[in-house]
Amino acid sequence: MKLTYTTIASWTILINHAIASPTPPDHRPQPQLANGIWHDLPPVPQPWQEGAVAAVGNRVYVIGGITSPSTTAELSAINTTTLVQYFDIVTQTWHDAAPMPVSINHGNAASVGGKIYMLGGLSGANMTEWSAIPNSYVYDPTSDSWTEIAPMPTGTARGACAIGVQGPEIYLAGGMTTLQLWEGGLQGSVSTVTSYNTATDTWTTTYAPLPGPRDHVAGAVLGKKFYVTGGRDHDQFNWKNNTWALDLSDVSAGWVEKANMPTARGGLASARIGKYLFTFGGEGNPNDPVNMVFDNVEVYDATKDDWRKLGPMRVPRHGTGAVAVEGKIYVPGGGVKISASPTDAMSMFDPWLSK
Ligand SMILES: *[C@@H]1O[C@H](CO)[C@@H](O)[C@H](O)[C@H]1NC(C)=O
Ligand SMILES: *[C@@H]1O[C@H](CO)[C@@H](O)[C@H](O)[C@H]1NC(C)=O
Ligand SMILES: *[C@@H]1O[C@H](CO)[C@@H](O)[C@H](O)[C@H]1NC(C)=O
Repeated sequence: MKLTYTTIASWTILINHAIASPTPPDHRPQPQLANGIWHDLPPVPQPWQEGAVAAVGNRVYVIGGITSPSTTAELSAINTTTLVQYFDIVTQTWHDAAPMPVSINHGNAASVGGKIYMLGGLSGANMTEWSAIPNSYVYDPTSDSWTEIAPMPTGTARGACAIGVQGPEIYLAGGMTTLQLWEGGLQGSVSTVTSYNTATDTWTTTYAPLPGPRDHVAGAVLGKKFYVTGGRDHDQFNWKNNTWALDLSDVSAGWVEKANMPTARGGLASARIGKYLFTFGGEGNPNDPVNMVFDNVEVYDATKDDWRKLGPMRVPRHGTGAVAVEGKIYVPGGGVKISASPTDAMSMFDPWLSK
C-alpha cells in the first residue's frame, strides 16, 4: 500500500485516539439518579418472604423462603418451602418453576452465566428453630431442573449472607447459622467470608473475616470491590450502618471501612446497577411502632464513597431480596411487619424518574 499523507495522518489520529481514550467516550445521555418511582406489578401467587431473589434474562425468580396461604393466616400455617416461581417481565405474568430438592429459607442466590446458584441457607419447619444447611444447587432455566453442587465447606454453612458476583465467582460475607424464633432465642450471626467458583465447582475459605458479625446484610461487587453494608449482629434490633469493602484484586489487604449507610438497618434488600448499590427497607424500625419495618431507600455510589437517600418504599418491608433488570429494580414479597408477616406485593422501582 502506498503511504500517502492522508493515510499516515489518519493512522496518527487513530493511534492518538487509542492512547488518549482506551474506552471510546459514550456520548449517549447517561441516566441520572432521581428520587425514584414505585410501580405495583401483578402480585406473587401467594404471600412470601425470607426467600432468595435472582434474575435470568427477563425472569425474576423467588426461591424457597416461607409461604402462607393468606396474609392473615396464623403463624402455625407459615412454613419453609421448596417453592420456586418466576415473574416474566415481558408478559407480566407469574409461573411455577421446578421446586428445590429441599426446603430452604434465607437462601443465598446469585445468577451467573444464565443459571441460578443457591448456596446454603436455613432449614426447619414453620416458626420454631431454623439451622444452617450446606446444601447447594444450580438451577438451569432451559431444562427447568435443579442439580446438586459442592456443599458449603464444614463450618461455613449459613443463610442471610451478603452476596457479590465477579466473573465466575460468587462471594458470600457474614450470614447466620441459627435462628431461634422465640423471644430471646439465639440469632447466630457470623463474620465468615467464602466464595464459590461456578466454573470449577469449588469453594474458597481463606478470606479475612468481616470486621464484625453481620447477618440479614446487603452487598454487591461494584467495580473490583465486594461491598458489604448494614445488617445486624445477634438481634434484629442491633442493626448496623458500617460499609466494608474487600478489594478482589488484592484480597490480602482485607476489609476496608467505607462511608456508613445513612440509616442503620438489618433485613434489608439490595440490588446493584453499575456503580450503585441500592438498599431497601429492613426490620426493627423503632420509629414505626406498629409494624416495625423500615421504608428507607438509600443508594451507595462506589466511585464517590457516598450515600444518597431516595424516596421511601410504597410498601415498606423486610425479609426479601431485590434484583435489577435493565435498569429497573424488582422487589417481590417480604414481611410487612416485624418477624413473619408475608405479603404478596410485587413492586418495581425505577430510580431514574421522580414523581
Ligand atoms: C409449628 O407447626 C406445628 C404443627 O406442624 C404446630 O404444632 C406448632 O404450633 C407450630 N409452631 C408455630 C410457632 O407456629
Ligand atoms: C412444614 O413442612 C414440613 C416439611 O417441609 C412438614 O413436615 C410440616 O408438617 C409442615 N408444617 C406445617 C404447619 O405445615
Ligand atoms: C453509625 O452508627 C454509629 C454507631 O451506632 C453512630 O455513632 C453513627 O452516628 C452512625 N452513623 C450514621 C451516618 O448514621
